[in-house]
Amino acid sequence: MSAAVGVFDLHADGTPPADPLVLARDWLPADDDPDRPRATLATVGTDGWPDARTVLLSAFDETGFAFHTSATSRKVAELAAVPRAALVVLWEGFSRQLVVRGDVVPDSAESLAAAWAARSDHLRRLAWCNTDELAALPRADRVQRWAADHPAPGQADGWAGYRLQPRELTFWAAGDGAASRRLQYTRDAGGWTWRFLAG
Ligand SMILES: Cc1cc2nc3c(=O)[nH]c(=O)nc-3n(C[C@H](O)[C@H](O)[C@H](O)COP(=O)(O)O)c2cc1C
Repeated sequence: MSAAVGVFDLHADGTPPADPLVLARDWLPADDDPDRPRATLATVGTDGWPDARTVLLSAFDETGFAFHTSATSRKVAELAAVPRAALVVLWEGFSRQLVVRGDVVPDSAESLAAAWAARSDHLRRLAWCNTDELAALPRADRVQRWAADHPAPGQADGWAGYRLQPRELTFWAAGDGAASRRLQYTRDAGGWTWRFLAG
């Protein structure tokens, strides 16, 4: 992720962009950058407790922040029950953080295919063969299966994608000669509003 000077410096004076995606585009790598941001995805567990795990942020645009996973995963069952989530992206050196909260919808077929094409061979193999049944086998069997498995080139069965549609985005920047602070955008019927918050 680039730490280059962007369109709006959270510690400078001035008015933030009206559209938070302008700032998000400045902070996050372009969708075609193979080094995808790692994000913590928080969901509502089916047992009522919060749940969280790391995912790759595959892409984002005005339709939402996309992540991809296995249809048999716990997060998918949780999103079926409560289609709401939060994503947290943390920058190296703890210089920045972006928190996105909102509703989650299935990703488009085009975006699903694009994310599959952009995944490394290693991650595609994982998507094909990484099952609970395999995980329960002794190590020797798992090594043997990994060496022997030659999955078909197409999209793995059960490769699923979602888009988190933001209703709130909070940009946090570490102090630059001052205390850290946050810029929070909230969406309502009239569009986006923003305010500064203590970090
Ligand atoms: C750096 C990193 C990146 C990961 N990226 C993904 C991802 O993009 N999609 C995914 O399904 N799992 C990814 N995982 C694995 C998840 O963290 C998680 O273990 C898995 O998806 C099962 O989660 P669930 O049971 O809560 O659904 C990643 C793990 C790490 C450590």
